[in-house]
Amino acid sequence: MIDKFGRNINYLRVSLTENCNLRCVYCMPEEVKFEKDYVNDYLSFEDYKFFIKAMSEIGITKVRFTGGEPLLYPRISELIRFTKEECNIHDIGISTNGIGLYEIVRSLKSSGLSSVNISLNSLKEYKYKTVTRGGQLKEVLKSINEAIRIGLKVKINCVAIDGFNDDELNDFMDMTRFSSIDVRFIELMPIGEAKKIYTRGYLNIREILDNMDGIHKIGREINSTSTYYKLEKSKGRIGVISPISCSFCNDCNRIRLTAKGRIKLCLHSEEEIDIRNYSQKPLIFRETMKEIILQKPQRHRLIENRSSESMSCMYQIGG
Ligand code: GTP
Ligand code: 5AD
Ligand code: SF4
Repeated sequence: MIDKFGRNINYLRVSLTENCNLRCVYCMPEEVKFEKDYVNDYLSFEDYKFFIKAMSEIGITKVRFTGGEPLLYPRISELIRFTKEECNIHDIGISTNGIGLYEIVRSLKSSGLSSVNISLNSLKEYKYKTVTRGGQLKEVLKSINEAIRIGLKVKINCVAIDGFNDDELNDFMDMTRFSSIDVRFIELMPIGEAKKIYTRGYLNIREILDNMDGIHKIGREINSTSTYYKLEKSKGRIGVISPISCSFCNDCNRIRLTAKGRIKLCLHSEEEIDIRNYSQKPLIFRETMKEIILQKPQRHRLIENRSSESMSCMYQIGG
C-alpha cells in the first residue's frame, strides 16, 4: 500500500489487549485494575486472523504483536503460526514486558516468532519493582537470556527517566558488549501517565551519547525508530529512540490495529477508524483499507496535541 506521500506501508502493529500485568509509572494508572482473565471484548481470534490475512494480501510483510501485554493473549502462539504459515509473513515480532516470556519463548519461536522487544527500565531490583509497581527483575532477565540463547533477535527497550535511571546508562550499554542485542533508550513521551513526570523526567539521550567518549554513531536505517551507536569491540548496538523529534516520519511504514478494532495511522494521531464491520468481508475490506491509507498524516503532531484529553495512552496504542 502506497500512501499519499509515497511511503510503502508494509508494517502492521497488532495490539492484542489493553490489559497488562504491570503498572509502569509512565504508562498505566495504578487504579486501572489488572483483570487476570480479561483479554479482549472487541476482536475475536477469527477477526484477528481475518485482518492479518487480508492485510498481507495488500502488502503487509511485517507484523508486531503489542498490547498492553501481548503475552496475556492466550492464543498468541497460534496467531503467530497463522501469520507465518497462512499469510506468508516471516518478519514477526512481539513487544513485551518479558514477564512469563521465559516459559513460552521456545514455543513462540517454533511457531514462527523472529524477534522480541523487551521493556527493561532498571537493572536494580528495587528500582525495577518501583517503576513497574511490583514487577520482578529476575523474571525479565531470565526471559531475556533465554530469548538470546535460542537465537531470537532481541531488543531491550529502556525508557530513560532523569532522576530514576540516568545513573544506569553505562550498565545498560555494557549489556551490548558480549551479546548481539540492541539496547535502546527511549526518550519519554508526554502522553497519558507520563505527562505527570515528563517535565522533570525527560532526558535528551541523543545529546548525552553524542558527547560521550568510547562510543561511535552508526546512524539510522530506513524505517527504523532508532539511531544506533556502538561501543568499541562490542557485539551489540546501542539505540536511541527520540519519538518527539522523530526523524522517521518521512519513511514511516507503519499502521496499527488497536485491541478495540480500530486502525491508527500514526502513533500520535487522535483519529482512529473502526474496521470491525469489515471482518470476514475481504473484498470490501481491502478496497476500504487502501482508501484509509491515504489519510495517513505526513508527520505526527504530538506536541500540538499533547494537551488533548482524547489522546490514547501507550497501553491502548501498543507503542
Ligand atoms: P521494530 O523496528 O519493529 O523493532 O519496532 P519498534 O522499535 O518501533 O518497536 P517497539 O514496540 O519496541 O517500540 C519502541 C518505541 O518506538 C515505542 O515506545 C515508541 O516510542 C517508538 N515508536 C514505535 N513506533 C513509532 C511511530 O510510529 N512513531 C513514533 N513517533 N514513535 C514510534
Ligand atoms: N514514553 C516513552 N516510552 C513509553 N513506553 C510506554 N509509555 C511510554 C512513554 N510515555 C514504552 C514501553 C515499551 C515501548 C513499547 O513503549 O516501555 O518499551
Ligand atoms: Fe504494561 Fe508496557 Fe505499559 Fe508497563 S509500559 S504498564 S509493561 S503496557
